[in-house]
Amino acid sequence: MSSPSVFATPQSVASIDECFFYHTMEVPGHGVRPGQWDLRNTIGDYLGRMNFKGKRVLDIGAADGFLCFHVERQGAEVIGYDLSDRDMWDLVPFAQYDYTQSIAVSKGHIKQLNNAFWFSRRAFESNAQLVHGTVYNIPREIGTVDAAIFGSILLHVRDPFVALQSALAITKETVIVVEPLRNDWISRVLRKIGLPYMLFLPDANRVAPKDSWWYLPPAVMIRMVGTLGFQDTRLHYHTQQYGEWGKFARVPYYTLIAHRTHGKPVV
Ligand SMILES: C[S@@+](CC[C@H](N)C(=O)[O-])C[C@H]1O[C@@H](n2cnc3c(N)ncnc32)[C@H](O)[C@@H]1O
Repeated sequence: MSSPSVFATPQSVASIDECFFYHTMEVPGHGVRPGQWDLRNTIGDYLGRMNFKGKRVLDIGAADGFLCFHVERQGAEVIGYDLSDRDMWDLVPFAQYDYTQSIAVSKGHIKQLNNAFWFSRRAFESNAQLVHGTVYNIPREIGTVDAAIFGSILLHVRDPFVALQSALAITKETVIVVEPLRNDWISRVLRKIGLPYMLFLPDANRVAPKDSWWYLPPAVMIRMVGTLGFQDTRLHYHTQQYGEWGKFARVPYYTLIAHRTHGKPVV
């Protein structure tokens, strides 16, 4: 008996009202759907000006699929990877709040994000595939990919190194990591001297943040991907637009493009 495919069966989502858009997206036939982040004019910088033509690409933390559809338009075969409502977001388990209540809320949110992926996929007439699971157990059955994208996800996971290890085990050539960049003076000084420190964000006094764990500066990321055999690195700095309801801010970001220099995928 053959084992079930790891690729999710495409879903038919009846109404766009069942969707949550994390990215502002122009959905064919449905106009512009506002989201928290508007990457429409800056997606080239966000992805480090990488050329995806002819590549097989894994987009980890695909959300509503904005990055998937962009990369597919560049001529890539794309597989999105994200949680489903059967999986758990790594919420910070502060003893000071009702953690179980937040898990329930986050599952509803994930369901609406998955809906946005399927709804947009159909509207874009995309062939992007979606695989569900946590970032720690990316299935080898996906097969090898040329490039893996970690767009604004590693700050949200409890163990970013295991997350990288899980994806890079099937990645032949390139990993792209996009993370926010802190611009306070101490972060700037530490960055200048290249110190590979990482900051633990949860603060029990503020009971916040509940969905983010780490500030991961470029020097840490270079060490992590280097440890996994990706030592040919290039950094790209940019800003991205965040905001809703007419209030917007530009947030500093970095993108690390790292090419494999050692080892090979395990599949
Ligand atoms: C902040 S969004 C980033 C969306 C997009 N990649 C980007 O760069 O704009 C983080 C995404 O990662 C997913 N995610 C968070 N924790 C995850 C985990 N432990 N395993 C798999 N996906 C996760 C979330 O569901 C969400 O879609």
